[in-house]
Amino acid sequence: MKKILNFTVGFIGLLSFIIISAHMGLAQSVQKNNEIGKPIPSEVQKITEKSCKNCHYEPGRLLALAKLNLSKWDTYPHEKQAAKSKAMYNEIWKNDMPPKKFRKKNPGAIPTPEDVKTILDWAKSMQPAKK
Ligand code: HEC
Repeated sequence: MKKILNFTVGFIGLLSFIIISAHMGLAQSVQKNNEIGKPIPSEVQKITEKSCKNCHYEPGRLLALAKLNLSKWDTYPHEKQAAKSKAMYNEIWKNDMPPKKFRKKNPGAIPTPEDVKTILDWAKSMQPAKK
């Protein structure tokens, strides 16, 4: 019985240690990432408002907002903005965004080749400088 008790206490101790260290690691990374990023430049916003607004700005579509909420862009930390801007370019470049059905119904909202280039230049400028 004592053995089991010792084991349990030890196990709980170990578990708390793991949780606390994970928590501290997380707190640290949150602190590191806490630096708020930059607003979307107006030339990019023109495109996102034309092509992405129905879904990626609030109230939009829940599924779309969960992945990319452009209404909350200004609260995204730098690293998240870097990743999301890249994802936005990738989606547009592959013609995955805006979605096919939406393109069919809203041909005017399809990004032009110049739009795609604008998004690419912006996404590149958002990536952290290589050291
Ligand atoms: C008609 C609604 C609609 C429009 C318009 C739209 N999206 Fe989306 N988007 C979605 C939905 C729904 C999802 C989540 C499901 C998915 O990934 O397919 C999504 C997901 C995404 C993702 C995340 C992909 C991933 O897998 O992580 C990115 C990035 C994205 N959209 C960018 C854009 C950009 C940029 C535009 C405008 C050029 C745009 N979307 C326009 C509906 C839309």
